[in-house]
Amino acid sequence: MTLNFDFKGRTVLVTGAAQGIGKALAEYFLTSNARVIVADRDAALLDREWSDNSDDVLRLAVDVADSDSVEQAISDIVATWGSIDIVVNNAGIARDAVVWKLTDEQWDSVLAVHLGGTFNITRAAVPHMRSAQFGRIINVTSYTGMHGNIGQSNYAAAKGGIIAFTKSVAKETARFGITCNAISPNAATAMVAAVPEDKLAEMTASVPQGRFADPSEMAAAVAFLASDEAAYITGVVLPVDGGVSM
Ligand SMILES: NC(=O)c1ccc[n+]([C@@H]2O[C@H](COP(=O)([O-])OP(=O)(O)OC[C@H]3O[C@@H](n4cnc5c(N)ncnc54)[C@H](O)[C@@H]3O)[C@@H](O)[C@H]2O)c1
Repeated sequence: MTLNFDFKGRTVLVTGAAQGIGKALAEYFLTSNARVIVADRDAALLDREWSDNSDDVLRLAVDVADSDSVEQAISDIVATWGSIDIVVNNAGIARDAVVWKLTDEQWDSVLAVHLGGTFNITRAAVPHMRSAQFGRIINVTSYTGMHGNIGQSNYAAAKGGIIAFTKSVAKETARFGITCNAISPNAATAMVAAVPEDKLAEMTASVPQGRFADPSEMAAAVAFLASDEAAYITGVVLPVDGGVSM
């Protein structure tokens, strides 16, 4: 990649960083000189994927849906590294079913991880960002959160909620040097690989560029939104999706 930002001195938290988009984002921040907290609830996967660590990586096994654990984790990060400058709320799950077959567990868990997790991390991080008069919050939403999808009313509600949440937090924090934006990605990850073959073919055909991105292709957009240079951009949803959302 030729687009380079320098995050030296910045502490970056990426959730869902054991694989997929989150892992690719964390790798980018690390090569751009940031201190990176790679957070995931899958501790074994986290250990396996981030075994070869520099001093600039902190592995954090945390369930973003658990508000007490998140509060504790953010305060530990600030105690260790002095600040939390950039958070990427990326952790996610899918529990698909048409609405008349959705169980309480499928509904609750998807809302709790995506919307609850994004809220928990943001609520815990913003006071520290306010004190520092600097912060970058980047949430990960989805095309489905804007347009809906069959079998994903729970996921659509969560991702649509994240867009409304992003704009509200952007307004609340704008006076404190904090920006809050979202990306809407489209990348070949485990989450996408779990989609049935015929549905996946249909989804691929709907991408104007005719392919899913490599997860690393999400990094430049996130890095830009996280950079000092993007200080005047807040409350936007940036699609990084090969044209799907046109
Ligand atoms: N891949 C795509 O095309 C696409 C499209 C739109 C939106 N998204 C969103 O991008 C984000 C990343 O997706 P991905 O495709 O890389 O998925 P993925 O399944 O490859 O990775 C998700 C990661 O989140 C972790 N995670 C799940 N629940 C968690 C929790 N409660 N606490 C902490 N970590 C948790 C998982 O363990 C996993 O490592 C998700 O929010 C997803 O909804 C992805």
